[in-house]
Amino acid sequence: MRKKIVAGNWKMNNDLAETELFLAELKKQVFPENVVVMIAPSFTNLNHAFKSLREHNVELVAQNMHQNNEGAFTGEISAKMLKSVGAKTVILGHSERRAFFNEDNAVLAEKVNTAIENEMTIIFCIGEELEDRKKGTHFELIKTQLSEGLFHVSDDAWENIIIAYEPVWAIGTGETASPAQAQEMHKFIRKTIAESYLEVIAEKISILYGGSVKPDNASEIFGQDDVDGGLIGGASLKVDSFMKIVNSF
Ligand code: PGA
Repeated sequence: MRKKIVAGNWKMNNDLAETELFLAELKKQVFPENVVVMIAPSFTNLNHAFKSLREHNVELVAQNMHQNNEGAFTGEISAKMLKSVGAKTVILGHSERRAFFNEDNAVLAEKVNTAIENEMTIIFCIGEELEDRKKGTHFELIKTQLSEGLFHVSDDAWENIIIAYEPVWAIGTGETASPAQAQEMHKFIRKTIAESYLEVIAEKISILYGGSVKPDNASEIFGQDDVDGGLIGGASLKVDSFMKIVNSF
């Protein structure tokens, strides 16, 4: 059985007071037993969230990290720092990092190695632009993002990898991939993993969908065979809509 996961990616939202309000509300909720719930607050609120959620079944996720373990990289955050404040999982390769911070597949491959070396779980994001889809090159692009950024890892490393397929044209736009489009791509991703690794690895890996997932479309998307949950942006900022999505399996 693959893990079902709903992860809230807060991006650059929620200061300390807003984080505290969210957490106070979240801690009153009862989570379904078969769903792993994760939240990714900003770096500055990770430790506070970790302490606050100690008795609760919510995993803490960092939104990014640097590929080096330490050194003269002003403004950057290392894997060790993240772990020391309670974040053992990190999102790598989000399309906003790729687009606004020039993270290419080569840098992401380094970040993947650093995360593995530090025994962190990775949520590895991939996704095509609208233009790729219009040109019909979206499958090829996804395959390249996987092979150049991730497919150098050992069989064992897959134990701690989660994939998030996020078509860039659906992020924050209100436009979602149709459930059929999501299923088609998730199946392709699983097949691509099976071609480079063992079939059993591909079968076990959780592949999340991200891009304008909301309470009213989550269950149809999560109902697809190869969709194992979601990476949620905007709708993860309010406990009410986040919980509706958590309860959408
Ligand atoms: P969205 O963001 O749900 O606001 O579209 C998803 C993401 O970027 O992870």
